[in-house]
Amino acid sequence: MAELIDGKLISTQIKDECKEKVAALKEKGIEVTLAVIQVGDDPASSVYVNNKKKACEYIGANSLSYHLEASATQAELLELVEKLNNDDKVDGILVQLPLPKGFDEDEVIRSINPDKDVDGFHPINVGRLSIGEKGFVSCTPAGVIELLKRSNVDIEGKECVVVGRSNIVGKPMSMLMLRENATVTVCHSRTKDLREVTKRADILIVAIGKPKFIDASYVKEGAVVIDVGIHKVDPNSKKLCGDVDFESVEPIAGKITPVPGGVGPMTIAMLMSNLVNSKF
Ligand code: GUN
Repeated sequence: MAELIDGKLISTQIKDECKEKVAALKEKGIEVTLAVIQVGDDPASSVYVNNKKKACEYIGANSLSYHLEASATQAELLELVEKLNNDDKVDGILVQLPLPKGFDEDEVIRSINPDKDVDGFHPINVGRLSIGEKGFVSCTPAGVIELLKRSNVDIEGKECVVVGRSNIVGKPMSMLMLRENATVTVCHSRTKDLREVTKRADILIVAIGKPKFIDASYVKEGAVVIDVGIHKVDPNSKKLCGDVDFESVEPIAGKITPVPGGVGPMTIAMLMSNLVNSKF
């Protein structure tokens, strides 16, 4: 039986640490402010945006909300970002993705001042990560590192296999594990004999977006398994599952993250951490 890695608990610890830092800044008269921009009314995005605002409230930071209609133009969005870039009261800027059809997401990400890019998506911050410079790191992979460290998983020298190579998770994840001195392999849809590679992993991080794809046949006994996926079990159900088939893998893993309650809550906690730590 694997030990469960409790993302709910660890994310609350991180938010509580942020809360203390915000309170300490307030004593010196310093405020912390996140600007959140949503374009259109995608229901999932509205839920995420709301949760981000609630997290700001929890830690004592200010949140400024901006909503543009889906019919707004790229130029209007860029103008808003520019206004926030130039506003000294704004520490972090977050444009909720995906943007509605017709918007150029890459241009929008590049328009954010890298020193306010709390999502860590700007190419400057991606570059800083890859050469080991200080900068904002994408929240989900940063959250995985915190889950591992706070669960006393040794990373140095371990075989780490990352399944998935997205710009938001897989690639920064591999860079972060490298920074922690793991031996890192990145797998993807064209990997030949995926099982043979994942079976080598001491630490297996799965971010492929396919429900219950990784079963016990992909996992070495005693491995630490981190599941970044989140899916509805079926379209009419509220029940969630990850990219890992939990029932199959849990009996042989050493440690494992559940879905929900594993990686999920870490993303917003690390957003808060990025926001607050930008003041130090
Ligand atoms: N959409 C889904 N996840 C994220 C995220 O972490 N940041 C932003 N800006 N949009 C998202």
